[in-house]
Amino acid sequence: MAMGALAAIVGLFVLAGIVGLSIVYGGLYNVAATEEHASFTRWTFDTTFRNSVENRAEDILAPEAVAPALVARGAETYKSSCQLCHGGPGVDPEEWASGMRPRPPHLAEAAAEWEIEEIYWLASNGVKMSGMPAFGPSHDEETLWGVAAFVKGLPGLTPEDYAQSAIEPDAVPSGVPGAGSARE
Ligand code: HEC
Repeated sequence: MAMGALAAIVGLFVLAGIVGLSIVYGGLYNVAATEEHASFTRWTFDTTFRNSVENRAEDILAPEAVAPALVARGAETYKSSCQLCHGGPGVDPEEWASGMRPRPPHLAEAAAEWEIEEIYWLASNGVKMSGMPAFGPSHDEETLWGVAAFVKGLPGLTPEDYAQSAIEPDAVPSGVPGAGSARE
């Protein structure tokens, strides 16, 4: 390679380093949550996030069935620990949750995009730099499988079923994956 080209490449790296350091040390990046992420930042975070979860949840084996009583316990945990950020059928998240960046998605819709193992992984491990907490350190595996099964079934729940689900296990329809029925 010609010396000129090599010098240009080294120069570019030095320049990139200087730009990077001035962003970090110079306070140039606005961390305010009142501003939406730039589309590049958002794409980078979102793609890293999705692929990381998919990759890490690959080796997780879901139980053959999650007992209805466990799903009902999961519903209770969901309402006390998740609903405030993610809402539920007929229930909006707390108003302050809309001030988070990234904004926590409405799981009644977003849960359809995830496998039950991925939801379990997300609830156990949380997501760095996003505000999604890890519940693994404070909850046992059984409870978290109940939560995961309940979340997986959220898109199919009516607001009435949702309102009932913590007190009345039968109110969780048998169509909820893992809710008493063997998974294929
Ligand atoms: C303090 C707010 C907060 C709480 C409480 C919370 N989450 Fe989250 N959750 C988030 C945020 C923020 C994200 C990341 C969104 C993103 O990166 O797009 C997220 C992402 C998720 C996702 C991935 C959804 C998607 O499509 O991006 C799942 C599934 C999830 N949370 C489940 C749960 C469960 C289950 C609980 C309760 C055990 C819970 N969360 C509690 C804030 C919260």
